[in-house]
Amino acid sequence: MKIDTESTRKAIRDFEINSAESLEQFRLTFISRKGKVAELFSKMGTIAADERAEAGKVLNELKNEAQARFDEAKQKLEASVTSVRTATDDITLQPPVRPVGSFHPLTLTLEEIKKVFFRLGFSIAEGPEIEDDFHNFTSLNFPPEHPARDMQDTFYIHKDENSIDNDLLLRTHTSPVQIRKMLEQRPPIRSIMPGRVYRNESVTYKSYFLFHQVEALYVDKNVNFAELKETLVMLAEMVFNRKVKYRLRPSFFPFTEPSLEMDIWWEQPGKEGRWLEILGAGMVHPNVLRSVDIDPEVYSGFALGMGVERMASLRYGIEDIRIFYDNDIRFLEQFQ
Ligand code: PHE
Repeated sequence: MKIDTESTRKAIRDFEINSAESLEQFRLTFISRKGKVAELFSKMGTIAADERAEAGKVLNELKNEAQARFDEAKQKLEASVTSVRTATDDITLQPPVRPVGSFHPLTLTLEEIKKVFFRLGFSIAEGPEIEDDFHNFTSLNFPPEHPARDMQDTFYIHKDENSIDNDLLLRTHTSPVQIRKMLEQRPPIRSIMPGRVYRNESVTYKSYFLFHQVEALYVDKNVNFAELKETLVMLAEMVFNRKVKYRLRPSFFPFTEPSLEMDIWWEQPGKEGRWLEILGAGMVHPNVLRSVDIDPEVYSGFALGMGVERMASLRYGIEDIRIFYDNDIRFLEQFQ
């Protein structure tokens, strides 16, 4: 006797599978132990011995075809199920929260400083980080061999391996932007100069080879010391968001005369209060005005400069300057 596999093969191919239920129906009908294929296998005993091997091969092919059809249909169904909303989905669930970036504490501090000066009618001036000796030192009244140049350890730029070009350098302060501003615009000048500066200092918790300064310059007729003092106090109170106890100490900068440093009284719970220096300032030196062709008999001005890292450290209680440049997300995230 022969086994008819053709009608079963056709049934396997034509069976419509479009749901989990019909898939299960297919399995029961063809693949399960009581299914069509098993039933055909059970008829093997009725087959003549010399035809059995051939019949076995045909049946095995049929069995594999049914299994393949099942596997493929199952995979297709599973893929489509994930994109179909089922009754058990909770559509009131909040979507996952996307992390929002934060501003760097130096940026936040700089913004606060800018606000003070925008209120007073200052605008922003910028200059290059690679400067020349004229803008960084000479025009600011640093005489050629004057020890004042040693106040700021300078990175000079090498022309080639053997020579150091003493004319190009990384600016050591933002004061050269004062010079650029005064060369480009006649008084009245009211500008602030924020920017990055470089000094050849070792890296420790309190010093780094680069940092940021903001400088302010006001030049006009009759600019006086009282206006400088007013500006300093307003600046300190706005940046630290409270009344401050301060003192102005005589100091020295080649480009200002008289010069001063401003200290504020700093108290922290559990620690003894102390004076902390926050900035340098002074009346623009007549030699500086002369170097940019502004007549010091007609005009006067004040200048002040501060370190942004210093201000930010005090604002946020940061004791190690290096953390500003680590880009450690755990630090930065705290400034949302
Ligand atoms: N340029 C000075 C410094 O880097 C700071 C300063 C600026 C002092 C303006 C007085 C006036 O130390």
